[in-house]
Amino acid sequence: MAHRIQKALVTGGAGFIGSHIAETLSGQGVETVVLDDLSSGKMANLDGFKDRITFVKGDIRDMETVKSAAAGCDLVFHEAAFVSVPASVRDPVLSAGINEIGTLTVLEGARSVGVKRVVLAASSAVYGDPETVPITEEARKRPTSPYAVQKLTLEFYADLYNELYGMETVCLRYFNVYGPRQDPSSPYSGVISIFSAKAGAKERPLIYGDGNQFRDFIFVSDVVRANLIAAGHEDAPGHIFNIGTGRRTSVNELWERIATISGAAGIEPEYEPAREGDIYASLAEVQKAESILGFKAKISLDEGLKRTLAWYQGLA
Ligand code: UD1
Repeated sequence: MAHRIQKALVTGGAGFIGSHIAETLSGQGVETVVLDDLSSGKMANLDGFKDRITFVKGDIRDMETVKSAAAGCDLVFHEAAFVSVPASVRDPVLSAGINEIGTLTVLEGARSVGVKRVVLAASSAVYGDPETVPITEEARKRPTSPYAVQKLTLEFYADLYNELYGMETVCLRYFNVYGPRQDPSSPYSGVISIFSAKAGAKERPLIYGDGNQFRDFIFVSDVVRANLIAAGHEDAPGHIFNIGTGRRTSVNELWERIATISGAAGIEPEYEPAREGDIYASLAEVQKAESILGFKAKISLDEGLKRTLAWYQGLA
C-alpha cells in the first residue's frame, strides 16, 4: 500500500482535500510533489509541512508543467479542479477547460512519463437528485450542473486510460467532505465550514428549506485513507467507488450538533426558502468500497466536528 509509493504528485495539493493527502503522504516518507495554480488553493494550507514537499505553481492545462511535475512519480492523485458548482453554472466553458481538458492533460502527462496509477477525485454530484437512497455506484446519473457533467466526463476519461492505454486509474466519488482547511468564505462553501464559522462567532446560521434535507458527511482524514488504499490496492484499477460513510445527517441535526459541541446551543437558526437546484437527499451506499478495498469510514460525525471546530477556533 502506501509504503510502496516512492514518489507521488498531488494536483490541487494546496487545496482543501489535496493538502491533506500531501501532508499524509509526505509524513509517511513519500517524496511528494504538489502542483497547484493557487486559484482556489492556498499556500497557508501547506503550513507545517512545506519543507517536506516540492511545490510547483502551475496550471494543470499546461502539458509541460504536468509532465515535469509528474516525472519520476509512480502515482498521481488528481484533486485539482474548478470546484464551485454555482460558478460552473455561470462559466461552463472556463470550468470545462479546467475539469475536462485539465484532467485529460493530467492523464496524458502522467501516461507519457510512465506513471503507474492515477487516483482521481470524482463527485457524488454526478447522481443529481437520486431516485432512492442509499445511492449505489450504478444508480442513474443525472448531472444537474456543468460541474457534474465535467466530473462524469473525468470518469469516462479515466476509464479510457485504464482500458485503452493500460495506465491504472481509480475514481473516488466523494460525498460531502468536511474538515480543517475547508474555506467558509463563500455562501456556496460547504455547510459544515459555514456553520462552524457561525458557531464560533455565536451568530445565527441560515438554513435553506425546512432543514430536513440530508447528506452523507465524511471527514477529510477518511477521504485521505480512501485515496491511499485506492493507490495501493491491486483490485482498485478500473473501478469507481462511492466514498461516504453510509450515515445520513439532516441540516437541522447538523446545526444542533455543531451548536452543542461549540457551546452555541440555544442559538436558533434562521430559515429561508430552499436554494434553487438544491438536492434533498444524498447518502452513499458504501458496500463496494468496503468489499473491494476494505475501506470503511472511521471518524464519527461528532469526532470529525470536534476536530473541525477546533481548527476554526484556532483561526479566529
Ligand atoms: C455538495 C458539494 C457540491 C456537489 C454536491 C453533490 C460542497 C460545498 N458542495 O453540495 O460541490 O456538487 O454536494 O451532491 O461540498 N445549507 C444551509 N445553509 C448554509 C449552507 C448550506 O442550509 O449556510 C444547506 C444546503 O441548502 C444543502 C445542505 O446544506 O441542503 C448542504 O449544502 P452544501 O454543503 O453546499 O453541499 P451540497 O448542496 O450537498
